[in-house]
Amino acid sequence: MSIPWYHKTSIYHIYPRSFMDSNGDGIGDIQGIIQKLDYIRDLGFEAIWSSPFFSSPQADFGYDVSDYRKISPEFGTLDDASQLIEEVHKRGMRIIFDLVLNHTSIEHPWFIESRSSKTNPKADWYIWRDKPNNWNSMTGGNGWHYAKERGQYYWCSFLSFQPDLNWRKPEVKQTMFDIARFWLQKGVDGFRLDIFNTIYKDAEFRNNPFTFKLAPTPDDPSGYFQKAQYSQDQPESFELAKELRQVTEEYGERLTVGEITAKRNIVRKFAGEEKNDGLTLAFDFEMLEFKFTAEYFRKLIGDIETHFHPPFMPVYVFSNLDKRRSIHRLGDDVRKAKLLHMLQFTVRGVPCMYYGEEIGMSNLKLPFNTALDPIPHKYTFAPRFIFDMLDITVNRDEVRTPMQWNTEKNAGFSTAEKTWLPVHPNYIHVNVESESKDEDSLLNTIKSLMKFRNENSAIKEGSFEFIDGFPANVLGFKRSLNGQTFLVLLNFDETAKDVHLKFEKPVFRLTVQDEAQGETAHLNGFGGLILTA
Ligand code: GLC
Repeated sequence: MSIPWYHKTSIYHIYPRSFMDSNGDGIGDIQGIIQKLDYIRDLGFEAIWSSPFFSSPQADFGYDVSDYRKISPEFGTLDDASQLIEEVHKRGMRIIFDLVLNHTSIEHPWFIESRSSKTNPKADWYIWRDKPNNWNSMTGGNGWHYAKERGQYYWCSFLSFQPDLNWRKPEVKQTMFDIARFWLQKGVDGFRLDIFNTIYKDAEFRNNPFTFKLAPTPDDPSGYFQKAQYSQDQPESFELAKELRQVTEEYGERLTVGEITAKRNIVRKFAGEEKNDGLTLAFDFEMLEFKFTAEYFRKLIGDIETHFHPPFMPVYVFSNLDKRRSIHRLGDDVRKAKLLHMLQFTVRGVPCMYYGEEIGMSNLKLPFNTALDPIPHKYTFAPRFIFDMLDITVNRDEVRTPMQWNTEKNAGFSTAEKTWLPVHPNYIHVNVESESKDEDSLLNTIKSLMKFRNENSAIKEGSFEFIDGFPANVLGFKRSLNGQTFLVLLNFDETAKDVHLKFEKPVFRLTVQDEAQGETAHLNGFGGLILTA
């Protein structure tokens, strides 16, 4: 039985401001992405997700849209967007755009009109109240903001310049669905859906209850002593997932991947209850704070397999535009990064990689008070070490620095005098060109892992089963399809391990010391093997 393409694909996530600058203004753009499509194809990725490049005042760098049907000039034009879709398809890949359905920019003409009076035609396109309730925004602090023009408060799930749309108004829903259709007609293969689980709020605006939880976590936005019970995950949002699925399917098999900050059972509910008739995929963010042990991944994958058993498919993601880069969590240890991605590309799931993760781009520590990202400015009152201790990335600039292509000026990202964010100084050795020449680099390891994945359907879409009983810190699992079986062995320990099992022959070695003979597999420290059985 074959599964739909969106369940066996692999996603490369581009932050367009930082990927490639084609016109020398220090900001990445759509033509820059087009220039680098061959690179992404050669890496082996089958789908690309780009963060938003629609018209926007860029106060949250594109996640504050002022016209969903136009492109912001620093990124290009509508023709560039169409060309991007076409060029991606020419290379046999797919492209996913980023839809921000929850809110618009405060500068969107709809909001300007809505704010102007209580009686204008768009008066209830946003969420207005005479008196705020107790809800906190996802970024901390009261999410209600006063507009003197109307003498009322508008609700923002995120920042004060990102007013939430009122999805209970049929025209809003219709308009947003038509925007999705607009891009589907242009040929996009699907959407990543920004903060999808906050779209509907409690119809009665009941106060959120108290909790002792101090800070929000990737799998639970409750924090600042408030449980986000009524400001997200409402029954209507699960319904919306199904409705949106139908809209996208008017155009055939289309991918939808939700950004859902919630516990795993809720994440799964957005994909559907019995059937996968909601979003085709949903991010599970607990793993963004992964621990590098076999025990952690045994538990994580086990639980994910319980929740996302077929016909559902999980997504494996270790870095994104908002949270620490994966290699930073690994103490910048390339050996560990190789093993992490071997797991990511061989486990049952859709892997999603953030630009630069394939070369081991790391966080660049930057001060809060000069940040371009608006979030850290809310937190300049507190000493930095507190956030570091809590393992929270407040300044998202740190994970959005320009892509490191080579050793030239600005790492080959731009010819500008100054790039929008500084280039990480480690570009001298962490860059695509140098790593391409080094057989043992992270980049070449990623390429060979992706090649193995793409050539073996048992890895892309086969069944999954753990192989237990191995020494501590060794993780093993089996992937099978149509009579073909692969045994995947991963050693999360720095010391070498011998593992006893029956197999046919080794077909993939993560390091040159990984070896298998007779009934023994020898795994190097942080080594990995794939064996046939
Ligand atoms: C999502 C995006 C983030 C953005 C926010 C508001 O969390 O990933 O970058 O700031 O939504 O749209």
